[in-house]
Amino acid sequence: MQAGPILVYSEYTADLPRFERLLSAALPEAEIHYARSLDEAIPHLERATIFYGWGFPAEFLSKMPKLRWVQKMGAGVDDIIDAWPCRPEVILTRTDGKLIAPRMSEYVLGAILNRSVRFDLARRQQAHRQWNFFEIGTIRSLTIGIAGVGEIGTMIAATLRLLGAQVIGWRRTRASSPELEKIFVGNAALPEFLGRCDVVVLVLPLTSATRRLFDADVIDCCRPGVHLINVGRGGVVDEQALLRAIEGGRVGHATLDVFRTEPLPQEHPFWTNPHITITPHVCGPLVPADVVPHFVSNHAAFLAGKPLMHVVDLDRQY
Ligand code: GLV
Repeated sequence: MQAGPILVYSEYTADLPRFERLLSAALPEAEIHYARSLDEAIPHLERATIFYGWGFPAEFLSKMPKLRWVQKMGAGVDDIIDAWPCRPEVILTRTDGKLIAPRMSEYVLGAILNRSVRFDLARRQQAHRQWNFFEIGTIRSLTIGIAGVGEIGTMIAATLRLLGAQVIGWRRTRASSPELEKIFVGNAALPEFLGRCDVVVLVLPLTSATRRLFDADVIDCCRPGVHLINVGRGGVVDEQALLRAIEGGRVGHATLDVFRTEPLPQEHPFWTNPHITITPHVCGPLVPADVVPHFVSNHAAFLAGKPLMHVVDLDRQY
């Protein structure tokens, strides 16, 4: 197949030179353009056949008449799938979740250990030069539930099991996973799954089937005092219901990297809640050195007319 121009798009200014270095070394023959804003992209929309990016509005793609393949830099495609504007012959692929899962596993582990080792209490005591004994917990006494056992959830489960946690999983459709002690399948199994977990880790894609799935009724199935960690998508959780569940003690702590609206609005009540830890969607960064080899392999397959890896199923929405 004829190699057309590639348009690379990232709003992270510091990342673009890294993408450029890696891509020009791997694809010396290719015509590649780089943009960090719509204005910078506009001159290339007419001719580009391949789009590699994230953080762009979906309508952007409808302005690309020669487009044949979109490689999303991230693992999630929820921000473009609803308004997917492309002709059926345009292929949509996403990044392999396994490439970002190691850092996400570290984030989840950090969130769990931060609570069980109680560094926050230690800091408070330190501020008053207090030497008061306190008992620390252990991950080995926890049952941790992973909701969403795809590439990322599976790696998180494997990491937590290595440290001795009891790890169970939930997913919407049937599949086995050797990393889990038990898997629960389908919405009807959610209450039983949640009732067993001290920590629940959400790694779900945002689709019409998962939007606000964690509403008041579902959250109410959790063990009192549960630690809820969301590293998937904010839209999966009903944020008002979560606040009420924290107030009532059903949720003991929430560690959230993703939100229904990002950036989290200034007036949002999450900011000041002492039982919520907020991070600004940082847990699965798209490190150029990690993700570019996946694009380069897919590019070779695209040119050879072979099947691409991680093609998004538009009906399933991930
Ligand atoms: C990050 O949120 C991603 O979609 O990879």
